[in-house]
Amino acid sequence: MGLFSLRILFFISFFCLKPSIYALNSVKNPQEITVVGTGYVGLVLGTCLAEIGHKVTCCDVDFQKISSLQQGQIPIYEIGLEELVKKNFAQNRLFFTTSLENAVRESNVIFITVGTPETLSGEANLEYVFAVAKMIGENLRTFKTVFVKSTVPMGTVLKIKEVIGEHNTAKTPFSIGYAPEFLREGSSVHDFMHPDRVVIGAEDPQTSQLFTEIVQPILDDGAKICTTSIASAEMIKYASNSFLAVKISFINEIANFCEEIGADVEEVALGIGLDKRIGQSFLKPGPGYGGSCFPKDTLAFLKTAQKNGVDLSIIEAAVGSNNRRCDKILLRLESALGSLEGKKIALLGLAFKELTDDVRESPSLKMIEKLQEKKAFVTSFDPIASTNALKFFPNLAIASTLYEVFRECDAIVVATPWSLFTQIDWKKVKEVSKASVVFDTRNILDRKEIEQAGFFYIGIGKRG
Ligand SMILES: NC(=O)c1ccc[n+]([C@@H]2O[C@H](COP(=O)([O-])OP(=O)(O)OC[C@H]3O[C@@H](n4cnc5c(N)ncnc54)[C@H](O)[C@@H]3O)[C@@H](O)[C@H]2O)c1
Repeated sequence: MGLFSLRILFFISFFCLKPSIYALNSVKNPQEITVVGTGYVGLVLGTCLAEIGHKVTCCDVDFQKISSLQQGQIPIYEIGLEELVKKNFAQNRLFFTTSLENAVRESNVIFITVGTPETLSGEANLEYVFAVAKMIGENLRTFKTVFVKSTVPMGTVLKIKEVIGEHNTAKTPFSIGYAPEFLREGSSVHDFMHPDRVVIGAEDPQTSQLFTEIVQPILDDGAKICTTSIASAEMIKYASNSFLAVKISFINEIANFCEEIGADVEEVALGIGLDKRIGQSFLKPGPGYGGSCFPKDTLAFLKTAQKNGVDLSIIEAAVGSNNRRCDKILLRLESALGSLEGKKIALLGLAFKELTDDVRESPSLKMIEKLQEKKAFVTSFDPIASTNALKFFPNLAIASTLYEVFRECDAIVVATPWSLFTQIDWKKVKEVSKASVVFDTRNILDRKEIEQAGFFYIGIGKRG
């Protein structure tokens, strides 16, 4: 797969999603909005709010990130994002700054979108949200509404309110709401513009009304709004992510069972998912869930439940199952190869899913770590996530082209479901590679084609 084909692939994905993105109306009452934290969520949120007509300032403590954005360089890969950032920046609706205090003072609405990463004990690290709360409190001069979007454990939003209040020496009135974010990396611009639902938790009707007005074009487009208390909104976010994590672990365990008795998990998933009460989505077995949300959010949910004396044994089981997933995958590879020691593995895909360059908690990185522990040599290829993976594994061998990754390898493992991997010419691979095994941990490849090219095919949830 050359660079040209890659570009075509991105072009197709972009234009498939693009028309509907631009179909929204503009808001009737544009607000002056500050978004604090310009990461995946903050940048997409700020850009999309500008696109529907608000005046938005995205701020961050990361000087390099802000200065790149000011020069039109987008720090993350998201379909459609670069064009929207450039457009709204040029039309003076989107600004980037490191002057957090000024940005807060000049807006009437503030969104908090800083990270809530996992602490060593598995809880959500709230130091960044509280630092922002303190800064907001110190800079309150006129009435403002603060919407928290960062994923925070139950009870945190009211603590944020307390911290703002403690530092609000001017005693300026303010209101607070919780608007959990449900976007999926890889399609986040589309998801922001066309979500299934928007959730807003608030203490008073004025705050939820303001939020409704801010996102009105999205609601006009058909999204449902769910107005709740703050505690319910906090619970909705964690319960949603945990439910999806449970669904993934469930189908992974069904896949294990299928492998033992000769059933095909794809047929089984179809048969299960056609029941509308269950649904097809998230019934795709694979190397386990990853990314910046499910692993940390399920853990934080369990920790918060534990503190409240509540048993979440189903979620606990799903987390345990996911933690064992990588070992299970490598066991199958090991039994196909005899031993992994000294074996050269071509690893296709580093991102935790397709259409993103995010490698946080990626199953691929777990595989690299375990393969290296077993003294195997890994060479990898990913169309866009290699730079991020090198931050975790600076010595990782990266192939500069797709076909180069196959040279000299003993086995090929597909770890990320990039569609370009479905277009591989396996006969050509056979010519350049001495590999005997292709392990499709995402079930995206054409088994027949691979076997006809002379490889031993292993899929998930089907006999090898
Ligand atoms: N990434 C997702 O897909 C996703 C989806 C839904 C919800 N969330 C939640 O949204 C939150 C943000 O996630 P993310 O993936 O965007 O994180 P991220 O790490 O990509 O971005 C966080 C940003 O906040 C900045 N920051 C930290 N402290 C700051 C401060 N005091 N002032 C200003 N900026 C500061 C960081 O420099 C960074 O740029 C998390 O709570 C996450 O769980 C993420």
